[in-house]
Amino acid sequence: MNELVEKLAADHTLNDDEYFDLIEHRTPEAAELLAEHAVAARQPIYGTTVFTRGLIEISNICKNDCIYCGIRRSNRNVKRYRLEPDTIVACAREGHELGFRTIVLQGGEDAYYTDDVLGSVVSRIKDCCPDTAVTLSMGERSRESYQRLYDAGADRYLLRHETADPDHYAMLHPAEMSWEHRMQCLRDLRSIGYQVGAGFMVGSPFQTTEHLVKEMRFVEYFKPDMCGIGPFIPHHDTPFAHEPAGTLELTLYLLSIIRLIHPHVLLPATTALGTIDPRGREKGMLAGANVVMPNLSPVGVRKQYELYDNKICTGEESAQCRGCLGLRMTLIGYDLAVDRGDVRL
Ligand code: 5AD
Ligand code: FES
Repeated sequence: MNELVEKLAADHTLNDDEYFDLIEHRTPEAAELLAEHAVAARQPIYGTTVFTRGLIEISNICKNDCIYCGIRRSNRNVKRYRLEPDTIVACAREGHELGFRTIVLQGGEDAYYTDDVLGSVVSRIKDCCPDTAVTLSMGERSRESYQRLYDAGADRYLLRHETADPDHYAMLHPAEMSWEHRMQCLRDLRSIGYQVGAGFMVGSPFQTTEHLVKEMRFVEYFKPDMCGIGPFIPHHDTPFAHEPAGTLELTLYLLSIIRLIHPHVLLPATTALGTIDPRGREKGMLAGANVVMPNLSPVGVRKQYELYDNKICTGEESAQCRGCLGLRMTLIGYDLAVDRGDVRL
């Protein structure tokens, strides 16, 4: 096991059988060694600087019906909301005052946000905060739409691929969604010029070690600028309500492997990781992560953007969240940057 860790640290790649063994037969000692190498690989590039992104959850209205997601359209128990453009811009300004230099607009696939509406929000944020990167996380759109939003000033786009295996994708999504289309969107985003974030859930229903080997391969060849991975957490109003959550241990292990595959990748310690363990985000940093994404949404709507149960930070004001995370990072010897936090290639 230790030889595989050393090999990955030296070569940044393994063959399929080796990835399989590394994941399937992992031990606490291998995890510790991987984390050590991951932190060492991150050190010359990002050090102990933690990049922050202020996340504004602009709408929980979604036309999709992803089986794992709490805001899927079939869930009649969600109180739906969408933020007005003025509210979004005000949140972004507040985020800028708090020290965020990346604003992420995330939402369900809500038809209200046409290219005109969303593009105008993006350009208003760029006008008022020109030193700030705008990231969109608004799901699958056409190439023309992605192009228009890019032209309006968007810098980055997050679209998790959710799983690198098309058959597994079909077990997590309704028939009208396809893995091929997801991949097409990712390729379109990249060719337009966006910095692109992909990602997947750890421990999602039906996930096998073979699937995880494919995830590692995907990270190798697609080379996302950012890779968002967090544990699957069941939501009580979805068909997966009684499925087990992904584990802290496996998530940390995969974070370390991904850091070693691509030492330059932006790797968030996700809110889901902070939800399954009270020190999950700190542990994420110590396993090789370098990004956190605290919530900037108005407190009044936070509980309604419930993708999974028991999501953290739904009662805190934006300033409290940033302060809390800053303190948490200081306590482990890391510090939050006031910086756009672009990928360093
Ligand atoms: N558990 C963990 N993550 C989830 N997401 C959606 N539902 C869940 C869940 N139940 C993730 C998906 C999506 C991102 C916005 O949130 O990966 O891409
Ligand atoms: Fe939001 Fe701690 S990070 S309250």
